Amino acid sequence: MGPRDGLQNIPDTVPPDVKLGLIDRLQATGLSYIEVAAFVSPKAVPQMADAQAVCAGLKRRPGVSYAALAPNVQGLERALACGIDELGLFTAASETFSQHNTRCTIDESLQRAAAIAAPARAAGVRLRGYVSCVLGCPYEGATDPAKVAELAAALFELGCYEVSLGDTIGVGTPGKARALLSRVRQALPTAPLALHFHDTYGQALANILACLDLGIASVDSSVAGLGGCPYAPGASGNVASEDVVYMLHGLGIETGVDLDALCAAGAYISEALGRPSGSKAGRALAAR
Ligand code: HMG
Ligand code: MG
Repeated sequence: MGPRDGLQNIPDTVPPDVKLGLIDRLQATGLSYIEVAAFVSPKAVPQMADAQAVCAGLKRRPGVSYAALAPNVQGLERALACGIDELGLFTAASETFSQHNTRCTIDESLQRAAAIAAPARAAGVRLRGYVSCVLGCPYEGATDPAKVAELAAALFELGCYEVSLGDTIGVGTPGKARALLSRVRQALPTAPLALHFHDTYGQALANILACLDLGIASVDSSVAGLGGCPYAPGASGNVASEDVVYMLHGLGIETGVDLDALCAAGAYISEALGRPSGSKAGRALAAR
């Protein structure tokens, strides 16, 4: 998620060259999915205004899927013109967050996703779904797990190959994360689900570990722990990719990702942004 979620909330404009430098380094690690941009309104998220330039500059590697978000048909058209491989369709389990993030109701966000889905699939673009605020909303508080299950099901019906459950503000704890996933699993026993934890309260790694044996094989993360949503006040970055890979390798779980190369990507973007890396594993490995 680094080049998209990781950077979308950074106030200073990050030049496309720096984003492309990050993407190059990420694809050298063995990662097979990189979310490179968002074709959203540049007024809503100025940092993503250069999505076309970023996509045009990609030095594509075989085996890597280059993905971007699209909230509406305008986003779809811009993405198709750039030859994107995958589109992220997004909705939220909170009406107030939906209004802040996409200026529409939850139902309208699904209608917009439906308007994108068929033409995207006809153009050979894969679809991935996101449900935000799955464990809490910055405006409404606790989330109803049944609503999350209903929205995940709706995104699968639109043709998403996987739906990512987003703890947008990082309030989840391992027990709650596990209970949510079990509830969504009841509704969608065989559906491929992914987890997307922001680490505001330092719970993200514990949440991932608590959910691993419930059939999770896909985890969203951002290198150097970057990330945040401009419409989720107080939320901090995604769980750091380096920390997730360090934990999974320690558990004997193969990821196909070269941890040293991932740390180098984290060091690159942290230096470019002039801030310390948010990855504890990245900092520890750099200090060896
Ligand atoms: P709106 O203002 O209601 O849209 O925004 P509109 O249709 O009225 O258009 C207003 C202006 O925006 C027009 O320009 C459109 O052309 C332009 P104007 O005539 O004023 O010059 N516009 C666009 N321009 C480029 N690309 C587009 C586009 N659409 C409209 N696609 C809208 C509604 C949904 C567009 C807006 O609210 C938006 O872009 N929201 C996206 C916000 C966002 O990106 N949030 C972060 C991503 S979600 C996230 O981070 C969560 C996640 O990580 C998971 C988790 O953590 O939970 C995925
Ligand atoms: Mg996010």
